Amino acid sequence: MTTASSADNPTRRDFLYVATGAVAAVGGAATVVPLVSQMNPDASTVAAGAPIEVDLTPIAEGQDIKVFWRGKPIYISHRTKKQIEEARKVPVSSLPDPQSDEQRVKPGHDQWLVVVGICTHLGCIPIANEGAYDGFFCPCHGSVYDTSGRIRQGPAPTNLAVPPYTFVSDTKIQIG
Ligand code: FES
Repeated sequence: MTTASSADNPTRRDFLYVATGAVAAVGGAATVVPLVSQMNPDASTVAAGAPIEVDLTPIAEGQDIKVFWRGKPIYISHRTKKQIEEARKVPVSSLPDPQSDEQRVKPGHDQWLVVVGICTHLGCIPIANEGAYDGFFCPCHGSVYDTSGRIRQGPAPTNLAVPPYTFVSDTKIQIG
């Protein structure tokens, strides 16, 4: 079961994979997965690029989910205080693609990171909650992203992209 305590141990954090109309747990020891609904138009409309809405309520602190928008994987991370602090204590000028954490999240919603899960090197899909910076790790050629999705090590030239999204309410976002 996903618990707050799992957020304290990054190596054991549960990961939720979410697809339209289906929910499955991948990896970890998750036995009960919170129901995560993606309230969308039908699949063909989504495939054509319609915006999608995602309910954030079931995503516990320390968890990530992956949804698809325009055929792209989108990671939504419910960051812990520690992860936010890690992202914000880094001198921006030291980053390969300088961007503050504040520039990559929505004001008042610092705990939510939403990024396109496509490595900016050659397009592999990075793994969430992996790597030296507790963010994302791309096993293809070793690019490491931090808890803000910013590139920190490896060949990727730029940060993970932030897709267009807005908060419809405190617990729901619209992507696209
Ligand atoms: S595609 Fe990610 S490191 Fe090369």
